[in-house]
Amino acid sequence: MFKSFFNKFFFIYAVLTLIIFISLTTILTNIIEAFFIDNKYKTMIEVGDTISREYTSAYYGNNMSRINFDYQISALSTHINSRIWILSSEGIIYIDSEKGVNSLEGLKLNNPSIKNALSGEKVTLKGDFYGLSSTPVLSVIVPIKINDITKGIIIMHSPYPAIKKTANYFFNITIICLFFSLAFSIILTYIFSKRITKTFNQMNSTAKSIANGNFESRVMISSNDEIGELASNLNFMAAELGKLEEMRKSFIANISHDFRSPLTSIKGFVQAILDGTIPHETQDKYLQIVLDESDRLTNLTNDILLLTKLENNGVEVNYGEFDIHYLIREVLINFEQKIKEKNINITLLIDKKEIIVHADKDKIQRVIYNLIDNAVKFCNQKDRITIETTKYKDKVNISIKDTGAGISQEDLKYIFNRFHKADISRGEHKKGTGLGLSIVKEILNAHGETINVTSKLHKGTEFVFTLTILKLNNK
Ligand SMILES: Nc1ncnc2c1ncn2[C@@H]1O[C@H](COP(=O)(O)OP(=O)(O)OP(=O)(O)O)[C@@H](O)[C@H]1O
Ligand SMILES: [Mg+2]
Repeated sequence: MFKSFFNKFFFIYAVLTLIIFISLTTILTNIIEAFFIDNKYKTMIEVGDTISREYTSAYYGNNMSRINFDYQISALSTHINSRIWILSSEGIIYIDSEKGVNSLEGLKLNNPSIKNALSGEKVTLKGDFYGLSSTPVLSVIVPIKINDITKGIIIMHSPYPAIKKTANYFFNITIICLFFSLAFSIILTYIFSKRITKTFNQMNSTAKSIANGNFESRVMISSNDEIGELASNLNFMAAELGKLEEMRKSFIANISHDFRSPLTSIKGFVQAILDGTIPHETQDKYLQIVLDESDRLTNLTNDILLLTKLENNGVEVNYGEFDIHYLIREVLINFEQKIKEKNINITLLIDKKEIIVHADKDKIQRVIYNLIDNAVKFCNQKDRITIETTKYKDKVNISIKDTGAGISQEDLKYIFNRFHKADISRGEHKKGTGLGLSIVKEILNAHGETINVTSKLHKGTEFVFTLTILKLNNK
């Protein structure tokens, strides 16, 4: 039952609400009743004090008749809904606000509360007042003092059921409000947790579907809170996985093609040599082609192995010091033939002076080779390649810029990914597996250096990477 998030969440909330409701009900019953009782005591004490003052003036001034005093007492009694007794200092009731058969005038009272009041204390008590009241009452006893001498006492009794009734009335209203607000909050929680569960279920099934290889699955969530963020991250992850899958598929297609074509020609030529189709005199030429194609296969395999090692941090960077300008010139020599074929214009904006850098020479040679290889490959006849170095603080920026095919903004995001080849480079003359730039990026990463690219389709491309100048030679 409690396996689902909704059940757990809702159950905990409902139990908590119930506990709060029960506790509040208990606390409120006592608080509300105590409040009304306290209030009643206060009113009675105030009335008691007023009577005490009136009594004093009546006692001294003789300006209030007994009838008038009697009348005032019964008016106050009605006003505060309490029975009032005025007692002499001997404890004899000589005024009772209740007249007739129930009147207790003339009765002498002798109980502990009377004694306390006669000694000057104000007393409050709840009950049947020593058996004198048939219903429970709240009683207040106030001494009448003249010149600090207790001349009598006032006793007031207020029926407890009436107070309890008022308290209950307020209690019921409070409880009804409380009940409705808690019920409302339970309904809101129900709706809210149902919504969250629905969202989670949706994400769950989308995640399962992605795990099963369906990278088109998406979560349909529009909220912009943390859940919305989670959903959009899940969608983003699905999209990225989809792209990776696409790349994997296209890699297999490319790699099979890249392996198959040299293998086909190797097989074809060897077969022709074996069955004598190729005469003995021309065999050398074809064997050279076989050798070249085998080299291509070896290079391809080596590239894949190197990249895998680089990505797993399995390649050590053998730091050394060398002149970057010399290395650029050295690499460029490899492209002499191709540069001539395409009539490419080369501009070298590099100082005659050395710039000694701190890096792994073989690997940086590979970086420069791959970048120039791309520049040459994607240049058309009579295009221009500019190679420039500029010092900045302890770094040297090496820029390789061409006026060739350029890369679209969409492709630009992915060119450093393994096996990515822009559509434009899929033409038959543009051989390559899309590993070159991944290798470049990984080598520079391993050095802690950076590479940036800017490009415009049909206008040209510029790659700029950094190397660290050896401090010693910089002085
Ligand atoms: N100078 C450039 N001009 C235009 N496009 C480029 C340039 N350099 C790279 N690209 C684009 O980036 C893609 C990836 O380049 P990368 O060097 O990784 O692969 P490749 O040259 O196709 O193959 P490989 O280098 O493995 O032989 C290229 O296929 C091409 O689309
Ligand atoms: Mg390349």
